[in-house]
Amino acid sequence: MKRIGILTSGGDAPGMNAAIRAVTRKAIHEGLEVYGINYGYAGLVAGDIFKMDEATVGDIIQRGGTFLYSARYPEFAQEEGQLKGIEQLNKFGIEALVVIGGDGSYHGALRLTEHGYNAIGLPGTIDNDIPYTDFTIGFDTSVNTVLESIDRIRDTATSHERTFVIEVMGRGAGDIALWSGVAGGAEAIIIPEKEFDMKQVANKIRAGRNRGKKHTLIVLAEGVMHADEFAEELGKFGDFHTRVTVLGHVQRGGSPTARDRVMASQMGSYAVELLMQGKGGLAIGIENNKVVSHDILDLFDAKHHSEISLYDLNNDISY
Ligand code: F6P
Repeated sequence: MKRIGILTSGGDAPGMNAAIRAVTRKAIHEGLEVYGINYGYAGLVAGDIFKMDEATVGDIIQRGGTFLYSARYPEFAQEEGQLKGIEQLNKFGIEALVVIGGDGSYHGALRLTEHGYNAIGLPGTIDNDIPYTDFTIGFDTSVNTVLESIDRIRDTATSHERTFVIEVMGRGAGDIALWSGVAGGAEAIIIPEKEFDMKQVANKIRAGRNRGKKHTLIVLAEGVMHADEFAEELGKFGDFHTRVTVLGHVQRGGSPTARDRVMASQMGSYAVELLMQGKGGLAIGIENNKVVSHDILDLFDAKHHSEISLYDLNNDISY
């Protein structure tokens, strides 16, 4: 194998650039040529492909987003899209690929491997919703961004003795809410993985207020319901001077944390090692602080497990 390609796909995540840098530098260090593919699978099909050298990836480790751009491209699920992509791989002489992204990106990587082009997936998403990895690239940065907002909201909540419902991203997973909620000392964390009772939430707020508590912070995962809806439901159990903050895409941007940069570098480098061993159809992860790989096929049968112990912990220490 002489030449590999790299793309980022799906929603961007801080740390993707660190992963691109690691893949590129490691591959060049090992004597390979590296081609960047812009806009994910859409760019692959369109032939938006260029040769990279070690300098191409200079000055990007600290940047959020992805300098290869990203796109959601469901057309790649169809064989027609895959064959068009393969045509481009042949045209540029690319024999193997590293794909950084979420679930949809892994499907594409598996299909390419089945067509004879080894592809390896790196978990790049703020949602932390990918099985067989404790953390995904971008999650730690996102949690820290949310935490900064929670701390700020706490200031104003206290000044006005208000309740805030803070809606965070995560798609169907509650991980961002769980980690930022515990770190931010939220009185309630509402996630899709756990049923909740609005009356109990209201009683908890009331009990806190009766003890002289000046603020209430509720961190709500977007997979449960919209924050406005939640606030309206809560209002049926009393007037808690509730305000709503939907953090939105601020959670996706910004300079990656050290943890995300280091993890992305480890994963990117390992992906190149695996490709050099002639392996493909694998997803890289981090388990118990060790970089690991699993068959992508196994991921499709598996479910991501959120750290539910954090939910119980929060109930014990935050009231
Ligand atoms: O998967 C990352 C994510 O930010 C989710 O948390 C969120 O639900 C979704 O993407 C938003 O997608 P878009 O950027 O396409 O609006």
